[in-house]
Amino acid sequence: MSAALAPETLRMPRHVAIIMDGNRRWARARLLPRVLGHHAGMRAVRKVVAAAHDIGIAYLTLYSFSSENWRRDPHEVSDIMGLLRRFIREDLAEMHAKNVRLRFIGGRDRVSPDILAMLDDARATTEGNTGLNLTIAFNYGGQDEIVDAVRAIAREAKAGTLEPEAIGRETISQFLHTAGVPDPDLIVRTSGEQRLSNFLIWQSAYAEFVFTDTLWPEFDRKALIGAIEEFNRRERRYGAGDGA
Ligand code: FPP
Repeated sequence: MSAALAPETLRMPRHVAIIMDGNRRWARARLLPRVLGHHAGMRAVRKVVAAAHDIGIAYLTLYSFSSENWRRDPHEVSDIMGLLRRFIREDLAEMHAKNVRLRFIGGRDRVSPDILAMLDDARATTEGNTGLNLTIAFNYGGQDEIVDAVRAIAREAKAGTLEPEAIGRETISQFLHTAGVPDPDLIVRTSGEQRLSNFLIWQSAYAEFVFTDTLWPEFDRKALIGAIEEFNRRERRYGAGDGA
């Protein structure tokens, strides 16, 4: 273990993306109902958003509901939907005051119209903000995102507005839900699992991965700085070879 470094001595990743995992295990270990694990998860969201803002991270993306999560017990799905509503209702004003720009990525299918309206409103309200760029991945799946992009590109090619030969990596990036957001430099997954689970699969091509055993409800500013320290210990080469 190395000593903790002060945030100002660290090279900040421009974009940190987090797979928040372990809410239910946190609750189970305390003999609490799983909904309280998600409540604790939301408190961690607040802490980590505030910390990212304080230490000067430009882009933070949080995986809060995957397109596969609909398979969970309907009560649990409904609890998570309720938490998203609360997050927007209770935190939007403060985030806006802190100059946070909010984006949402993921499908609009199956999400109830009142939530869609809240997300659209939060996005529009904060569109001109220039501080932390916070993206919430909700009803998100990376493969579906790529399917959407390919369909849109195919429609343009069919209409004659895009030449197939002109399609490059940049074109694909521009058609993803994350258009305008740089690719993540660091992807963190909590709770000991070491999978990407369909999160930012195109965008993570050159990301560093940090896996921590900490369960999401216990992830805080210190844990975020710990992940950034680990990122600092790695040297990124973008496929340029190991120099041997
Ligand atoms: C993963 O833990 C967590 C989720 C699928 C839900 C994430 C929800 C929050 C962090 C709270 C809501 C926040 C917002 C912004 C809506 P898990 O349930 O998979 O836990 P487990 O791995 O222990 O089963």
